[in-house]
Amino acid sequence: MAGPAAGRRQLLRQAALGSATLVLRRGPGPAAVAALALPALGGCALGGDSAARPRPLVIAHRGASGYRPEHTLAGYALAIEMGADLIEPDLQRSRDGVLVAMHDDTLQRTTDATERYPARNGAWRVADFDFAELRRLRVRPTGSATTGGLAADDPALRIPSFDEVAELARAAPRPVGLYPELKPADEAMVGLLVAALRRHGLARQADGQVHVQSFHDGALRAFVVAQRAAGLAATPVLLGTPGRSADGRLQLRVAGGRWLALDALDPAVQGLGVAIAQRTLPLDAAWVSGAQARGLRLHGWTFAQADPTLAAAEYARFLAMGLDGLFSNYPDLAVAAVARRTGGRSDRAARVTRGPADGP
Ligand code: G3P
Ligand code: CA
Repeated sequence: MAGPAAGRRQLLRQAALGSATLVLRRGPGPAAVAALALPALGGCALGGDSAARPRPLVIAHRGASGYRPEHTLAGYALAIEMGADLIEPDLQRSRDGVLVAMHDDTLQRTTDATERYPARNGAWRVADFDFAELRRLRVRPTGSATTGGLAADDPALRIPSFDEVAELARAAPRPVGLYPELKPADEAMVGLLVAALRRHGLARQADGQVHVQSFHDGALRAFVVAQRAAGLAATPVLLGTPGRSADGRLQLRVAGGRWLALDALDPAVQGLGVAIAQRTLPLDAAWVSGAQARGLRLHGWTFAQADPTLAAAEYARFLAMGLDGLFSNYPDLAVAAVARRTGGRSDRAARVTRGPADGP
């Protein structure tokens, strides 16, 4: 295949070679063991080539957000304990320029902001509060999540900075990757994320340990340019809704409702994060394999089924289509489904195969 897809496959092959070199250079010992696990995070996937694909990734969506308040250290820590490959912080920024993990651009849904602060500029926008102010807030459980017995004012239930999320992943007893999403899609966010990755020594290799995602193709492109200038090699993933044009070509609906043809995507894009829940143009095996044939990895969002039996059926259906990764609110259920699919093949050092005992 000519054009962007061929360029993308070349990039992926270089990434695979880079991972192998890393293993050889480090030699025996704990670092080598860690490096050997890296290809499972996507380093040696070769797009639509017929070679066996790596084990599908489990991405903890907003942390283990079905169990613990979303985007908290408590939720990320539980996801790591459950065996997630990567944890997903959606990123907002504070008024004083600190990257924080939060999905919404306002504070009301997930925190007690309205009880602590009067409205500012007519609302409770994350970007109108300094980081020190955001830290005083308590993140509350939503949906099926609970505090797991933690007191409401436990530090693990505060809004974390991206720095803290990165430190938590680094402290894990096995390699755990990061999958940040640029929510505000502007230059300042791109600059803050690149600076943070550099500060933490992340994304130095194209090993899949850091995926960076956005619904905004322009922001993702800006990130690619900025990370190249900084010598970084995170995996860029474009988010959207899968579909087909009237003449059957594969396309993705991105921010602003625009449809982008997969054949015309920027070759720097290495993966797609695709909605699985739409009814009108449901994801199917042909779409998945068609995208993979263009050198793209496919990660589906969001697996939010809490019932283990129903969840098992849903995971099995999408894994049979060939998805390369699952954004899940219940990482233990996703880990179990991937293990079933792969005959137990796993390089994860820690695993919990059932849900935690929930506290109050
Ligand atoms: O990033 C994948 C998925 O998380 C997109 O949805 O709204 O949860 O960020 P959202
Ligand atoms: Ca997200």
